[in-house]
Amino acid sequence: MPKIFKKKDNKEAEEKASRARRVRFISRLRGMKDILPDEYKYWNLIIKKATELSRSYGFKRMDTPVLENLELYERSSGRSSDIVVKEMFSFIDKNGEKIALRPEATPGIIRSYIEHGMFNLPQPVKLFWLGPVFRHDKPQAGRFRQFSQFNLESIGDASPVADAELIAITYYFFRELQLEVMTQINSVGCASCRKEYLVKLENFYKERGRRTKLCNDCKKRLAKNPLRLLDCKEKQCQEIAADAPQIVDSLCEDCRNHFIKVLEYLDELNIPYNLNPTLVRGLDYYNRTVFEIWPSSAEATEGKPEEQSRQNALGGGGRYDGLVEYMGGRPTPACGFGIGIERVILKIKEKNIPLKDEEKGDLFLAHLGDPARRKIMVLFEELRKNGFKVRQAFTKDNLKSQLELANQAGVKYTLILGQKEIMDGTILIRDMESGIQEIVDYKKVVAEIEKRLGSPSKKI
Ligand code: HAM
Repeated sequence: MPKIFKKKDNKEAEEKASRARRVRFISRLRGMKDILPDEYKYWNLIIKKATELSRSYGFKRMDTPVLENLELYERSSGRSSDIVVKEMFSFIDKNGEKIALRPEATPGIIRSYIEHGMFNLPQPVKLFWLGPVFRHDKPQAGRFRQFSQFNLESIGDASPVADAELIAITYYFFRELQLEVMTQINSVGCASCRKEYLVKLENFYKERGRRTKLCNDCKKRLAKNPLRLLDCKEKQCQEIAADAPQIVDSLCEDCRNHFIKVLEYLDELNIPYNLNPTLVRGLDYYNRTVFEIWPSSAEATEGKPEEQSRQNALGGGGRYDGLVEYMGGRPTPACGFGIGIERVILKIKEKNIPLKDEEKGDLFLAHLGDPARRKIMVLFEELRKNGFKVRQAFTKDNLKSQLELANQAGVKYTLILGQKEIMDGTILIRDMESGIQEIVDYKKVVAEIEKRLGSPSKKI
């Protein structure tokens, strides 16, 4: 065999052996996302907006564990809800206990309210919650298996003002993020008026062979939870639902008055909404007001705006007056909402909304040589302690690459220290826009920077 072929054979064998030696890479799970540094500016913005609004409206932040007893969700979210039936990450732990990764925040918050005796506090107790939740959903655009929610819950207030306040907060949240949304609103009544309505609804579906045209899930829902037939995402079911009797026509007097008052407050606040008779929400605990925040149809992806918006709701919530008692607490009215943070970020990206880059600094410290590096490490800490946003590249040696990083950091000035400046007791201040450099006394550099940039706030 010619030498050349032998060489090739050896090379191939070597590559094969090297591939076999390489460790198999383990990628992330389906429907789970990494949040990379570039993405964090969106998270920071949303967390800041959510925190500011919650604080202004008197909601206090709290958190609950990621893992809870499985029964907590079976009892609250509902044994007929998709979340519990199809989407829960549940397992038996080493002690044989059935536990679940939280698929939503509300049940844990209510458990905590009861467990910590928050009913003894002045009511309502207004809580702000932000964190990851887990649903074994079919992953697709805007649908993940781990995603995060911003929740507000107002516990202990039955008045329609509480519902309107929450809807108003969601509206301001999206308005301040420059996203156009349309609030969809409906009332699902109370246990007594809903009973009558459900009879009407069942009769409607039994008439004219409508039942046979439903999707398989809806055929089952008809027996277990007929209300859910109204918000099925399947086209054939939506067409039938459009002609179904409307629950608002069956509301008892108290539920009707409550709903009218909520709408009146929204009108007063100039908050646009769409009365949506098929909106019922997918969780079992709601009564009276239910709402969802949809991207306005102009912003929904082209094609089927209504369907797209329904499937990609940015948030949803409503009243759940029976839940606290049902979970073992005293009878306590409550309402709340949850907003899906990843979906909000997708919308901000789609709209190309310019964001303030929090990583940007005021100043960059550059050095030439090891003695200068040591000195600016000390100076860096002094300037940082004084409240300046200082950037640096201590590990770099080359001045050109440091100045490039200074440009990327968008700073106004770069302080440059080299061997000569150390000997003279000076430092250079370079204006990054004009490129003009001035020599200043090293001892006066902090005062000099304050003169140019103003004194930064030292508040923590
Ligand atoms: P939810 O409608 O199930 O309500 O979820 C709230 C929001 O979470 C949705 O509107 C959506 O933006 C987001 N979301 C839901 N599923 C996914 C997913 N697979 N991937 C990405 N985002 C998703 C609740 O969870 C209720 N606990 C809200 C509430 C609070 N009601 C009263 N208080």
